[in-house]
Amino acid sequence: MARGNNVLAFLRLLPLLVVTLAQLGLPSESYAQEPSDASVSAGRRLYHQKADCQACHGWSGDGVKMDSQSPDGANLRTSQLTREQLILVIKCGLPGRDMPAFDRLSYTDDRCLGRTRSDLQRMGLELPDPAATLQNREVERLVDFLLTKVVRQGEMTQAKCIDFWGEEVDVCTSLP
Ligand code: HEC
Repeated sequence: MARGNNVLAFLRLLPLLVVTLAQLGLPSESYAQEPSDASVSAGRRLYHQKADCQACHGWSGDGVKMDSQSPDGANLRTSQLTREQLILVIKCGLPGRDMPAFDRLSYTDDRCLGRTRSDLQRMGLELPDPAATLQNREVERLVDFLLTKVVRQGEMTQAKCIDFWGEEVDVCTSLP
């Protein structure tokens, strides 16, 4: 099966989850409009440092990983996922697909598609450990960053690179 298919199969269970979130009365900021610059740069730091997404997805999110020992992450720049789907994938990971779950309580209760660690074990689906777990607020910032600077933002260019980092950094000079 093609890689992307499994992600979609996993997300096909999403409507169930959305109902649960709505019932919990999640704050409406989770569907924020235009994220602030502060939120975007906090999200960028989480991506590169605390959560170390770049190890598998590359510094710009293009899937050219930084750590040769890490699994090959998806190209996030061409991802078609919505905000809610990105949040779900970050919190719950993709069991059996080498994408870690960043919610500390994922698979301890029914928050991740109603599955628990022992369900995953029974199904033979492994989850790698994340570099660090993230609070809901941190996930929101990370997604603010992804949707502003990475997801559906096209290939990296010198101009986008300078905007991405907020200054002219060395990695930008070799770009077209
Ligand atoms: C250990 C390596 C690894 C790390 C660290 C990692 N990922 Fe992933 N990620 C993957 C892999 C591998 C896939 C592809 C799974 C597949 O398609 O089967 C993936 C898929 C995804 C997807 C789905 C993209 C799509 O459109 O299908 C998103 C979104 C994502 N990762 C975001 C993140 C973010 C944000 C972080 C940091 C918080 C992160 N990942 C950290 C390995 C990793």
